[in-house]
Amino acid sequence: MDVRSLVLLLHVVCSDVIIYPAPDGLAPSDKFSVNVTQSGQPPSRLFVYISTSDHRSSSPLEPPGRSMSWTSFAFTGAPVTIEVHAPKDFNNCLVRPTSYGYKCKRLGPNRASFTVLQNARMMSVEFDYDYGLGVRDITDKLFVFADPPEVNVPSPTDPGVLFYGQGIHNFTTSLIVGPEIRQVYIAPGAYVRGGFQLPHGNVTMHGRGVISNENFTRHDERIGQCAVNFMESSGNVYEGITIADPSKFFFLANGNDNIVRNARMVAAWMGNTDGVGVGVGGVVEDSFIIADDANIKIHMSNLTVRRCVQWQMQNGGTLQTGWETLYVRNVTMVDMDIIHTDWCKFKNVCKTLSGNDAVFDTYGNTRHFDVSDMRFENIRVEGSCPRVVNYNMDPAAEGTISNITVINLSVDSQPVHDPIHNAISGSSRGGRIIDWQFVNLTIAGQCIASGSDGDFIIDPNTTSNITFTC
Ligand SMILES: *[C@@H]1O[C@H](CO)[C@@H](O)[C@H](O)[C@H]1NC(C)=O
Ligand SMILES: *[C@@H]1O[C@H](CO)[C@@H](O)[C@H](O)[C@H]1NC(C)=O
Ligand SMILES: *[C@@H]1O[C@H](CO)[C@@H](O)[C@H](O)[C@H]1NC(C)=O
Ligand SMILES: *[C@@H]1O[C@H](CO)[C@@H](O)[C@H](O)[C@H]1NC(C)=O
Ligand SMILES: *[C@@H]1O[C@H](CO)[C@@H](O)[C@H](O)[C@H]1NC(C)=O
Ligand SMILES: *[C@@H]1O[C@H](CO)[C@@H](O)[C@H](O)[C@H]1NC(C)=O
Ligand SMILES: *[C@@H]1O[C@H](CO)[C@@H](O)[C@H](O)[C@H]1NC(C)=O
Ligand SMILES: *[C@@H]1O[C@H](CO)[C@@H](O)[C@H](O)[C@H]1NC(C)=O
Ligand SMILES: *[C@@H]1O[C@H](CO)[C@@H](O)[C@H](O)[C@H]1NC(C)=O
Ligand SMILES: *[C@@H]1O[C@H](CO)[C@@H](O)[C@H](O)[C@H]1NC(C)=O
Repeated sequence: MDVRSLVLLLHVVCSDVIIYPAPDGLAPSDKFSVNVTQSGQPPSRLFVYISTSDHRSSSPLEPPGRSMSWTSFAFTGAPVTIEVHAPKDFNNCLVRPTSYGYKCKRLGPNRASFTVLQNARMMSVEFDYDYGLGVRDITDKLFVFADPPEVNVPSPTDPGVLFYGQGIHNFTTSLIVGPEIRQVYIAPGAYVRGGFQLPHGNVTMHGRGVISNENFTRHDERIGQCAVNFMESSGNVYEGITIADPSKFFFLANGNDNIVRNARMVAAWMGNTDGVGVGVGGVVEDSFIIADDANIKIHMSNLTVRRCVQWQMQNGGTLQTGWETLYVRNVTMVDMDIIHTDWCKFKNVCKTLSGNDAVFDTYGNTRHFDVSDMRFENIRVEGSCPRVVNYNMDPAAEGTISNITVINLSVDSQPVHDPIHNAISGSSRGGRIIDWQFVNLTIAGQCIASGSDGDFIIDPNTTSNITFTC
């Protein structure tokens, strides 16, 4: 073996970074380029995807001229350094979630770098020329996803596997996956223009590829309710796939015991692009969800959600408990980062918000509530958040929402935009909200010890035992 081969071999052996291939035929982002390096190895260029808002623009809250770029890789072992080339120079940059503690620094003109200490990290890299302050959101967004390595990659010839390899796959409609299929695999570098319906259950759908609805119109009947829909089927695992530019919802799995892990959902350009809904016993973890409507739905029992990063576009509830007749028991959500809440963007004066727009929200003409035992811990809301809580039952609603515990909810800031306030109220038809404790709710670093301190309007006639403790 010559020295060159030995060096090459050592490089392969020592490097714990997995670079995904580019999908042949797809143009990379013209905004950002990104490299990754580990332990002083030569840098590897990552393929950066892009989606733009132009073809989705149809209302003032859905303006054209914006983009989201994203890239993914996997690693284990030593920290990796990411280098980004931005379209413009800047003085400062930052990596969200800030709870990761990853400091972005300027290396030189247009060049930023930061170090990622572990995988299952989903980052937004932001530049001071485009921080999305004021009336615009961030015009050109960039996400970097550091994945865990894949496990159990199937054989492309296994008859129980639907295998999509590297490259572009054009569907004319959503694919209905048959009962003989045990796995749907979307390889790194695979780019599926289409959608999937999986009504049979016990399917593992995984990989590191992308599913895009870019070639389908808003509410396109060829896609249906969501880009990926497990319907009422149970026992499914959905792992590692990116969905981009949905024509309606991103993802539903309303049967029992479905797991969503390392999911990435990007380029939600229109209202009605809801994020994730899972059924009884569902788990959603380590996922990144940008939605322009309900981001994560709390609509069934025994739900566990952890370590997700959420970005709320111009519309929708981030943690949404509404829109249907609800029987919900036993919800746990922990270690969540909500990195942007953009409801006031593109409104010159932010004087009104839809009842749909808050981090903790219930809305949508729900007529009956039977919701209790929900626990939220260590939830961080970054930036300026127009409204944290909006639990106003519909005037015609009946039933009860009770026993909610929120511990360690931190909100960077909530500007007072009278008449927009945090609000909790039941209904004149007997709807009640009772036993809700906020422990260590901080807004702008101040612990909130009473409703009025936190700009809450709490209706005394239809609520009881709503407490704030520091
Ligand atoms: C990435 O690495 C390549 C090869 O070393 C280099 O040409 C390029 O400038 C680098 N780009 C960035 C964004 O660091
Ligand atoms: C998919 O469609 C594009 C046009 O959008 C075309 O260039 C490409 O060849 C198609 N790919 C396949 C595999 O059919
Ligand atoms: C799908 O949309 C992309 C991006 O707009 C376009 O380049 C491509 O030609 C379209 N492909 C098909 C098969 O319609
Ligand atoms: C709550 O849900 C979790 C996850 O499904 C389950 O393990 C636990 O037993 C449930 N607790 C109750 C009281 O139902
Ligand atoms: C929630 O999980 C518990 C424990 O497994 C189970 O007893 C209960 O029936 C589940 N709740 C629902 C609504 O299925
Ligand atoms: C309130 O909900 C928690 C779970 O969040 C549960 O452990 C507790 O038993 C419930 N309290 C009552 C009184 O039901
Ligand atoms: C809340 O945060 C504090 C640190 O600020 C921590 O000590 C405590 O364990 C957290 N509580 C929960 C329930 O995680
Ligand atoms: C108030 O609600 C909490 C749960 O949120 C409960 O533990 C407590 O017992 C309730 N207090 C009263 C007086 O009902
Ligand atoms: C509230 O915050 C204090 C100070 O960080 C911490 O000591 C305490 O454990 C927190 N309370 C809970 C219930 O986590
Ligand atoms: C609560 O009920 C009382 C008595 O009916 C009424 O006078 C008061 O206006 C109500 N308060 C609110 C905030 O609706």
